Amino acid sequence: MMPKLRLVRETFAREFGERAILVRAPGRVNLIGEHTDYNEGFVFPVAIDREVRYAVGPRDDRRVALISVNFQARVEFSLDDIGKDAEQPWSNYVRGVAVVLQEAGHALRGMNAVIEGDVPVGSGLSSSAAMEIGALLAFEAVSGLHVDPVRAALLAQKAENEFVGVNCGIMDQFISRLGVKGHALLIDCRSLSYEAVPVGGEAVRVVVADTRVMRGLVDSEYNRRRAECERAVALLQPLLPGIRALRDVTPAQLQAHAAALPAETLRRARHVVTEDDRCLRGVAALRRGDVEAFGHLMDESHASLRDDYEVSCRELDLLVEAAHAVPGVLGSRMTGAGFGGCTVSLVRADAVARFCAEVARTYEAATGKSPEVYVCAPEAGAEVLGS
Ligand code: GLA
Repeated sequence: MMPKLRLVRETFAREFGERAILVRAPGRVNLIGEHTDYNEGFVFPVAIDREVRYAVGPRDDRRVALISVNFQARVEFSLDDIGKDAEQPWSNYVRGVAVVLQEAGHALRGMNAVIEGDVPVGSGLSSSAAMEIGALLAFEAVSGLHVDPVRAALLAQKAENEFVGVNCGIMDQFISRLGVKGHALLIDCRSLSYEAVPVGGEAVRVVVADTRVMRGLVDSEYNRRRAECERAVALLQPLLPGIRALRDVTPAQLQAHAAALPAETLRRARHVVTEDDRCLRGVAALRRGDVEAFGHLMDESHASLRDDYEVSCRELDLLVEAAHAVPGVLGSRMTGAGFGGCTVSLVRADAVARFCAEVARTYEAATGKSPEVYVCAPEAGAEVLGS
């Protein structure tokens, strides 16, 4: 038994008096390809060794009983009458997944579940996608279903979009479900085809640093950015017939038609089309073992998110600058939606200890807050682990 799963398994045995089926679903960090998923472009995330764990068992009625260890709370609802819960919002991820699975025609059984996790909430490491994917696998396991993994990611995204009410793209749910140990996934967010690419081998580490700034503006600004991208496509369509999304526009085409877009819309579109390009070039660099080139592209990605897409913030910029001052740091950028949350850095293995100490010291001196720093191991996507 993996020690991390002991708590949910033992809590389940105590509360429900049975043996549990165990499920884990990871959080994620995106290495490059930011704000591209909803433009049908490319992303390159890793599933990380921070996860949400479920211990579950079937019930003979149509009720779902959930216990959250982290929130020290218990809720119960019926599969025949699922509403949103304003008091225990963590339960909405499970409720939303039950709704979309049933709408898709799957016959669900009632379920008892204990949930616990160590993906920090509100940090941009996708604790919500991990909750959803974990719930989806849990319902599959207790109801005897098999949902194709890509389809599962789409259903979990639908739960987030339509039930929880957050208009996210496909990246987070996809990587939580389909991640591959030791690898990042290059995901084509249009075709949903994907390829696993090893992350730099033993010589490098993926290090996440958390600003510990809550992402206040994120929802409204995220939706505004999405709308600006759609506007850019609408304005470019008469000039570039056949384009459907910014994914279809090359950096050279955008430059050639720059005059067609208002200045701000142009900058937003420029981030997206250059980021798709950086993502593909970055993956090619990693494949030939060129971690330096990958690091440079991460740095360029940050500058583009800061200056053109304008989704960074002072604390994220500070962490990136502090990372750059440490020898052995190959690249550093904000990751996820922005406006707080985390940076991701690619760091030579022998420089990690110095990174952790120096970045923390610089950030603390400037902000009075100590950042949380995690060295992440690329993990496998969600799994049912038996009982
Ligand atoms: C959030 C969303 C993702 C993606 C990123 C930005 O994490 O959930 O779908 O759009 O922001 O790359």
